[in-house]
Amino acid sequence: MPTVLITGASRGIGLELVRQYRADDWEVIATCRDPDAAPDLQGSGAEVHALDVTDDAALAALGRTLAGRTIDVLINNAGIYPLKGPQGAFGDIPVEPWMEALRTNVIAPWKVAETFIGNLEKAQRPVLATISSKMGSIADASSPGSVVYRSSKTGVNMVIKGLSLELEARGVICLALHPGWVKTDMGGPNALITTQQSATGLREVIAGASMADTGTFRSYDGAPIPW
Ligand SMILES: NC(=O)c1ccc[n+]([C@@H]2O[C@H](COP(=O)([O-])OP(=O)(O)OC[C@H]3O[C@@H](n4cnc5c(N)ncnc54)[C@H](OP(=O)(O)O)[C@@H]3O)[C@@H](O)[C@H]2O)c1
Repeated sequence: MPTVLITGASRGIGLELVRQYRADDWEVIATCRDPDAAPDLQGSGAEVHALDVTDDAALAALGRTLAGRTIDVLINNAGIYPLKGPQGAFGDIPVEPWMEALRTNVIAPWKVAETFIGNLEKAQRPVLATISSKMGSIADASSPGSVVYRSSKTGVNMVIKGLSLELEARGVICLALHPGWVKTDMGGPNALITTQQSATGLREVIAGASMADTGTFRSYDGAPIPW
């Protein structure tokens, strides 16, 4: 039975990924900030661990707890979107929420990779998939706004490219994935697709990836996205 580790699995896309991998009989290691406040995750059949991805000490402790285990697929899913709408418009954007977006969306995926590289290396075809966003695509940007979130996803794209170069010799396939515009707390009710559609597509892309795909940016439907 292959094993997947998913961060930020309390709700939204992360929780649906947990459900689908469990339904497919995968061993699922799911992390979330507060397991006691995540009853859906607790009932999913996943092995649940508390992890705030910005907490270095907690990350190191989980690394020690999981040492020696094989992880076939690691999904950096945890993410935040501070200062949506007018709050994030040009004028007087506060710095601290921006820093928090960088800590969560940019730095944490790299630290998660550093923590679990030994687990990934034990797999036959390890995949390190990080949920980015088309909103981080510089080529796709055509209107102002959301600079806090956008810049964090642009930043994580370089993190993923960097990881792909760092980890190529170790055989780890590193992917930047856009999940679509998804009906979650983050995506809102007007989003275009459900978590089921997004997770199904993301899983297909991950399952079909080879070393030829490492360092690429792809949508949940497999389409390449310009950086
Ligand atoms: N929804 C969309 O349309 C969309 C589009 C493009 C990209 N994405 C990306 O897809 C990923 C999942 O988004 P979503 O739509 O499922 O969002 P969501 O419903 O808001 O869920 C976000 C998840 O991330 C977790 N999280 C946030 N900060 C964390 C931290 N410091 N440590 C650990 N977990 C943390 C949250 O945990 P708590 O429950 O503890 O807050 C929650 O489980 C994100 O990376 C997001 O940027 C989403």
